[in-house]
Amino acid sequence: MLEWITEADLSKANSFGFKVTAERYISVTHLSELKQALNDVKENGWPLLILGGGSNLILHEYIPGAVISVDFTGIHVLADEDNQVVVEVDAGENWHAFIGHLLEMGLHGLENLALIPGSVGAAPVQNIGAYGVEVSDRLHSVIVYDSQTEDIVQLSNTDCNFRYRNSIFKSEEKGRYIILRVRFLLDTLYSPSLEYSALRNYLLDAGFEHPEAHHVYKAVCEIRSSKLPDPQRLGNAGSFFENPVVSETQYMDLKAAHPSLVGYPERPGYYKLAAGWLIDQAGWKGVRVGGVGVYEKQALVLVNHGQGTVAQLLALASQIRESVQEKYAVTLHMEPRTYPPSE
Ligand code: EPU
Repeated sequence: MLEWITEADLSKANSFGFKVTAERYISVTHLSELKQALNDVKENGWPLLILGGGSNLILHEYIPGAVISVDFTGIHVLADEDNQVVVEVDAGENWHAFIGHLLEMGLHGLENLALIPGSVGAAPVQNIGAYGVEVSDRLHSVIVYDSQTEDIVQLSNTDCNFRYRNSIFKSEEKGRYIILRVRFLLDTLYSPSLEYSALRNYLLDAGFEHPEAHHVYKAVCEIRSSKLPDPQRLGNAGSFFENPVVSETQYMDLKAAHPSLVGYPERPGYYKLAAGWLIDQAGWKGVRVGGVGVYEKQALVLVNHGQGTVAQLLALASQIRESVQEKYAVTLHMEPRTYPPSE
């Protein structure tokens, strides 16, 4: 018999730090526990939320049904040949701690993703990315529990259909798979990814033209800490909106009207705009409404100043979306998932 915790306090399990209560909650550390928990869920017909690090979620005050936190831990080297290593990591490992561990093991390729909050199991869901690298660049495969067939399945990188901040886990097959372990293909010889100019320039200023892995890791940590609030101190979910993709024609028209607009070619015929710039220019940076607000150093991040509520946050997000739509005719999409989903 599993011991579900009823009326569980999830305030520390969501990076916004909102006061959240779950009707019932359990942390599972083994597959057998997960299966039992899923069985209870099925028998009782409870709505289910699978919780990772809670850093890309907006939880409403009361979560009906069941919450399962997948807290499997372990890191194993599976294969090691020709300067490439396959590492398998359990879903419950902390992402940043894992990146630090890889650095110590001399395994390279994910340094640019240091300091991203959340768990390893959550990383593929929205294909986390920063400073020119996305998790999909290094992901070998994902071991999942398929809730439809009740089998353990290995999904290849291609199967996951990764896109910018998206994958089958977030869209096509939402709710079907529970991520148990993730496999990464890493290099033993370091070749830095320095396409992102802000990172490259930071390293050049620090005197590193040919940086080593620990220099890049340290630089990424420093840049992130200077721009993004630490969720332990100021509740947030990182970027609150995705960077919107618009047609080349719309980009050209906007650029002509607003020469300082920030955008990058995405795929042929499309440009990705910096949502932070749009929100900043629409006058929102540092604005505070009730207990929530727009972070003063990065307009893309919404924060809970301590006493904020989900309702305040969602109202602020709507106002921002409306004003960006009105001023630039660009639609912003929220990056974190709201649960229970809004109607
Ligand atoms: N900008 C402004 N004002 C602002 C914020 C940004 O003008 O208040 C401008 C900046 O000057 C810069 C441009 O917008 O020219 C882009 O800003 P930045 O380099 O900070 O990156 P971003 O587009 O805001 C994205 C990711 C981040 C990731 C960084 C670094 C998305 C939605 N966000 O942010 O991801 O860390 O690039 O690669 O793609 C996250 O997903 O939680 C996250 C933090």
